[in-house]
Order: sequence, then structure tokens, then C-alpha cells
Amino acid sequence: MFILGGVAYEQQVSTDQEHLEETGTTMAPRTRDSLISWWKLKPHCLVYLLLALSYLLIIILFGIVISNELKLPSEVKKLHTQLQINNELFPCGSRSREWEYFHGGCYFFSVQDATWHTAKDHCEEKNSTLVVIHDLPKQNFLQSRTRGHRHWIGLTDENNEGQWRWIDGTSYRTSFKNWKTGEPNNYDRGEDCALMDGPGIWNDMSCNSKAFYVCEKPLPS
Ligand code: BGC
Ligand code: CA
Repeated sequence: MFILGGVAYEQQVSTDQEHLEETGTTMAPRTRDSLISWWKLKPHCLVYLLLALSYLLIIILFGIVISNELKLPSEVKKLHTQLQINNELFPCGSRSREWEYFHGGCYFFSVQDATWHTAKDHCEEKNSTLVVIHDLPKQNFLQSRTRGHRHWIGLTDENNEGQWRWIDGTSYRTSFKNWKTGEPNNYDRGEDCALMDGPGIWNDMSCNSKAFYVCEKPLPS
């Protein structure tokens, strides 16, 4: 017998017991009816039960949120490590297949040819400049990557014939040079822009000629 049961419930249970004694059969349908009557008599119990269930649900949800919050720092750490790996493997940007890393700089090798000025503009659009060749290691790197195709570099004497200037202001007179023998020759009096010719040695050509080009920019910070 249920302790909380009211008079009607007790009566019903005793009736059920009598029925069991009489018939010796199960009283499941009667018991269910008894419970329904009990709920009718004690509707506030249903409210308590629903409240208890909601409370339990809130505790479970709260637990889930807390455990996710606790997981967050380890996820952030994982992402951070992944970023570090990407930065080491692809210092010029893991999503960019165009830029190649060399000695603290990023280099872009064009796949289309252009005049010297268009090439210069293209580099600037990419927040970079036509390449400046400061030393032999850089010359060798560029030479191996340009594979014997003509590529414009950031060297010109168009402002003053014979006064060659690097576009980043590097002193031409004192810095590295790699001209082909006999160059620069201002052939036909119309050659003011320098490129890496054939196997990488330099030649002056008309700035309106078309060639591939190399852009450079510092490593993104
Ligand atoms: C010359 C170069 C010149 C080029 C122009 C060559 O024959 O040796 O100096 O820049 O022609 O096409
Ligand atoms: Ca020339």
C-alpha cells in the first residue's frame, strides 16, 4: 500500500486485494486505475515530479556546458600547435601556394609575362616589390627557380641613362652584380630595365618587352 495514498486509494487497493483473493488473477489494470485516481486526488505531486525532472535536466545541461568549457583550453592549445607547425612548414602562408620562402623573405614567381612597369604594378598590388638581388645566395635561389626563363627584376636606369638603381634604394654601385659579359649595353639605345636572362645572368632590355617577373615581400609577421 502507498503511504501517500488517500482514502479512495486505500479502498481501491483493498477492493483489488479482495478481487485477487476471489479470482487469484493479476490486478494490473485495476492498479493502473488506482494510480490514475491517486494522481487525480494529488495533482500537486505531479507538479513536484515535473519540477524535479526539470531540475535534473538543468543540472545535466549545466554539466555538459561546464565539461565543454573545460575542454576549450585544450582545443585552443591544439589549434595553436597546428598553427605553429603550419608556420614552420609554410612561413609565407599555409594557404598560399604562390609564395615561396627563402632566407626571411617570400617570393612570387609569375606565370604570366608582362612589361616591366606592369610587372612592378602587379607586385605592388600584392603588397610586394620587384625582387632586389643583394647577394649570391639570393641570385642562386632565383636562378634555380626561374629555370632559364627571362624574369624582370627591380633594377632600372630609365630616369638617368647609365645610372642603375634598385627599386628599394639599395646602393647599386657597392652591391652585388651579375651582368652577362657586355651588358648592360642599352642596345638600340632603348634598354632601361634589367632582367634575369637565360640561366639567370642579367641583361638590360626595353622596358616594354614582356617577361615573367619575381616579386618579394618580407615574411608576414
Ligand atoms: C643583345 C642584348 C639585347 C638583346 C635584345 C641581344 O642580341 O646581346 O644586349 O638586350 O639582344 O633583344
Ligand atoms: Ca642588353
